[in-house]
Order: sequence, then C-alpha cells, then structure tokens
Amino acid sequence: MKIFNVSLGVVAVLAFASPSWATDIKALINEQGCFACHSMDQKMVGPSFKMVADRYRGQKGADEMLAKKIIAGGSGHWDKITGGIMMPPHPGMSMDQAKKVAEWVLSIK
Ligand code: HEC
Repeated sequence: MKIFNVSLGVVAVLAFASPSWATDIKALINEQGCFACHSMDQKMVGPSFKMVADRYRGQKGADEMLAKKIIAGGSGHWDKITGGIMMPPHPGMSMDQAKKVAEWVLSIK
C-alpha cells in the first residue's frame, strides 16, 4: 500500500497529541513558526491573526486567497502596518493544511 499524502500522517499525530480541532491547528502553526511574526491579537512583524480575521471575515474566497499566501508568501496587503515586510513562503505546507489554517484565522472573533 502506498501512502501519497504525508500530511495526513502529520494531522493524525497532531490529532493524537491534542483533543480539539482548533488546538491541532494551533500546534501546526506553532510548529511552522508562524507565531514568530504573528500573535493572536497584537501586531508583531506581521498583522495579528485577529486583524486578518477582521479584514477578510465573510469575504468570498478569502480562505483560498490566504491559504495560497501562506504557502507562497507575499507582500503588499499590510504595508501600512508592516512597513512593507514580506510574508515568507511555507512550501512544506499542503494546500489542505494551509486552507485549514486560513479557515481557523478567519474564525477568530
Ligand atoms: C518572518 C515573519 C513571518 C512569518 C514566519 C509568518 N508570517 Fe504571515 N505575514 C507576515 C507579514 C510581514 C505579513 C504581511 C504581508 C502583506 O503585507 O501582504 C503576513 C501576512 C499574513 C497573513 C495575511 C495575508 C494577507 O494577504 O492579508 C496571514 C493569513 C498570515 N500571514 C499567516 C501566516 C501563517 C499561517 C504563518 C505560518 C505558516 C505565517 N504567517 C508566518 C510575516 C510572517
């Protein structure tokens, strides 16, 4: 049997380590080093996750746009706050993982 989706294994390990879906996502974000530049509610190098949620909440396609940005990186959306610093790419994340992270960010109130 061949297992193509390595990320499934990661999700399984995270699911085993922590009980709730949101905690799994946070563990993934932690592991990926996102909290080096983002906090939940305060601007650091990048905008806080709450600022991102407030800006895109309810917008059609926002989850996919943010997921692509998490994987590919980019700049230009938060220059007033960051002074033009780039969001670095995370090529090790799958679209599925990035979308879950984006959905989680968008769900922050
Ligand atoms: C080296 C610092 C750094 C790291 C690490 C980092 N980010 Fe960012 N992030 C930024 C900056 C700077 C921006 C603002 C980019 C812009 O102006 O478009 C940003 C923007 C974002 C946005 C909003 C994108 C938009 O277009 O509005 C999301 C969502 C995000 N980051 C999620 C993440 C996630 C998830 C991770 C971990 C996988 C991560 N970031 C890791 C610096 C970082």
